[in-house]
Amino acid sequence: MRGIEVDLTGKTAAVTGAASGIGKAVAQSLAHAGAKVIVIDVNEAATIEVADEINGTPLVLDLSDSAKVEQTKLNVDILVNNAGLQTVSKVEEFDPDRFAYIHRVMLIAPFLLTRAAVAGMYEKKWGRLIHISSAHGHRASPFKSAYVSAKHGLEGFSKTIALEAGPFGVTSNTIAPAYVRTPLVEKQITSQAEVHGISEAEVIEKIMLTAPVIKRLIEPNEIGDVALFLCSESAGMITGTSIVVDGGWLAR
Ligand SMILES: NC(=O)c1ccc[n+]([C@@H]2O[C@H](COP(=O)([O-])OP(=O)(O)OC[C@H]3O[C@@H](n4cnc5c(N)ncnc54)[C@H](O)[C@@H]3O)[C@@H](O)[C@H]2O)c1
Repeated sequence: MRGIEVDLTGKTAAVTGAASGIGKAVAQSLAHAGAKVIVIDVNEAATIEVADEINGTPLVLDLSDSAKVEQTKLNVDILVNNAGLQTVSKVEEFDPDRFAYIHRVMLIAPFLLTRAAVAGMYEKKWGRLIHISSAHGHRASPFKSAYVSAKHGLEGFSKTIALEAGPFGVTSNTIAPAYVRTPLVEKQITSQAEVHGISEAEVIEKIMLTAPVIKRLIEPNEIGDVALFLCSESAGMITGTSIVVDGGWLAR
């Protein structure tokens, strides 16, 4: 059974990192609501598969290639900057190239795609910019310096665009989830176990789910529905903010 009902007939959306996890769920939610979705991801086979499944358009693009991203033309009503990845490492051992790569995918690409998309939105006097941030856009955790700094940057970027875009009927918001059941989290469970020298079960129990009051992973479709709500007319006055979906983590 689907969650909320929003009519996006006639709207076009682009979702990055849409071949997997949260991005795929957001793409499915927007397509179910009637939007034509451009599925953007570096994973070619999965991009085509998801695009086929939702009757969307595949766009295979490596978001770390800033020159290529800058050339991308985007005539869309909705842009969801979602693609992201994690590296868990002590700061003194953090590979500088990896740090820069994470920032290119998670901060520079959202800037470049937003830059490409806003002119068309401003013309239509309607648009929705949604950036998938994280509880780590608001709080830090050790060993995640590239990720946490990129997400904090994304929060600031979203607020800045909200101020610029508001007069044109365009909103910009982040969605900040705690741990969602996706391949990215499954990989993190393994690497956290290595860094902390504990078992994978202990990572889930003692690291991931200590802060949330509600002790379960978030399902990707729950984030898809929040994105859908932000695209609705009811959300027209929500801008420059962060919708936190964290089971109570940040209440502490
Ligand atoms: N899963 C969680 O618990 C969680 C929590 C908070 C925030 N987030 C954020 O949600 C977003 C999606 O995460 P997910 O858990 O669905 O991850 P995921 O690994 O399941 O999916 C990420 C997608 O991004 C794509 N991607 C990675 N690098 C790319 C690149 N260079 N160019 C194009 N595409 C690229 C991957 O191919 C993949 O399809 C990320 O920004 C992540 O930081 C996730």
